[in-house]
Amino acid sequence: MTPLRVGLLGLGVVGGGTWSILERNREEIARRAGRDIVVTRAAVRAQDLERVRQKTAGRVQLCTDPMEVVQAEDVDVVAELMGGKEPARTLVLRALELGKPVVTANKALLAVHGNEIFEVARRNEVMVGFEAAVAGGIPIIKVLREGLTANRIQWLAGIINGTSNFILTQMRDQGMGFSEALSQAQALGYAEADPTFDVEGVDAAHKLSLLAAMAFGIPVQFERAHVEGISSLTAEDICYAEEFGYRIKLLGIAKRTLRGIELRVHPTLISERCLIAKVDGVMNAVLVKGDAVGATLYYGAGAGAEPTGSAVVADLVDIARMGQVAPGHRVPYLAFQPDQVRDEVVLPVAEIETAYYLRLRATDRPGVLADITRILALQKISIEAMLQKEPRAGEARVDVIMLTHVTREQAIDTAINQIEALDSIAAPVVRLRLESLSS
Ligand code: HSE
Repeated sequence: MTPLRVGLLGLGVVGGGTWSILERNREEIARRAGRDIVVTRAAVRAQDLERVRQKTAGRVQLCTDPMEVVQAEDVDVVAELMGGKEPARTLVLRALELGKPVVTANKALLAVHGNEIFEVARRNEVMVGFEAAVAGGIPIIKVLREGLTANRIQWLAGIINGTSNFILTQMRDQGMGFSEALSQAQALGYAEADPTFDVEGVDAAHKLSLLAAMAFGIPVQFERAHVEGISSLTAEDICYAEEFGYRIKLLGIAKRTLRGIELRVHPTLISERCLIAKVDGVMNAVLVKGDAVGATLYYGAGAGAEPTGSAVVADLVDIARMGQVAPGHRVPYLAFQPDQVRDEVVLPVAEIETAYYLRLRATDRPGVLADITRILALQKISIEAMLQKEPRAGEARVDVIMLTHVTREQAIDTAINQIEALDSIAAPVVRLRLESLSS
């Protein structure tokens, strides 16, 4: 059979990993795919030409114009590994219009333009593979598109940004401050070009919106996700959470409820007994709860050259195998048949239900706690646990930390507003969400 000829747009970290895997495992990959997979062309930045020429030892035709690669006759499939929204969108759409399948690692592109891209792909009857766009080397897209198709997915929760997980781990284990841990993550090459995407939860929300679409059969709706990052988390809250037996992780959560779908990314307290609480450093993990299978957990490297390249090559193998399959019988892009995607309600954050961690800085005098608990009781918020610290030397104020039972976010918002209005409360109340993740 003729080889599948790949055009790479970008030969940086992920492109380099893809190239190395295809070189090293060529024979075994061909035995799986039923045909050879060869990179015929690649577009790279002018300043990288020499480095890439040496790496590819003259076996790939290099250029600096990605459109030239997309349109080349000796390119059957385009692997978009350059990132960013433009020109990536234009290049991907052009490839699809030419009838060429596309593999991409670009979560930002798909989160914002995915619905358009999948529609153009469907019209042109070509495949879009994006295993590399979510959780690096973990085959979570295949899990949702194929492995769990028997299930009604109830919820999923994931550590899907390695950089922020690395930062939280360094803050907890090494007592590092946020900025120091971020600099270390950047030096190690984990962070996105714009690290605010990592630390403000945007990268995780890009990935979550793709996972939620596949889990629930809804369109990709990044713009409706509630997004909070880790940049304002303090070492104090990490320590207090530990005293209660919890770890703080940046989780992406998609949950089906009777009232609609919760779609949210935020720092979350989870019990240290949960397996996912033990996922440290740059590693990723995704928990998926299906009605038939129960809770399942997927763990692995969420970034890096070869882990992400592993996902790119898996998509290339799918495309290589697909030659004979009629479009109607292929695995649908977003797990559900395109005409079965439904626009379900995504709940505003005020409507979500979860438990909370509250930290209050209060004056240490009689009646203060009574005022606080009265406000919570009026909102029907039940306290599960409470801790009051002794005042620090020379200070008249104390930290009061409370864990609540599950309640509606609106009720917590109202209570926090009223608590902050008390003259005994000295600073804004710190509010973090807490998830039991119980199956
Ligand atoms: N910046 C991303 C992360 C890379 O830290 O997880 C992989 O998407």
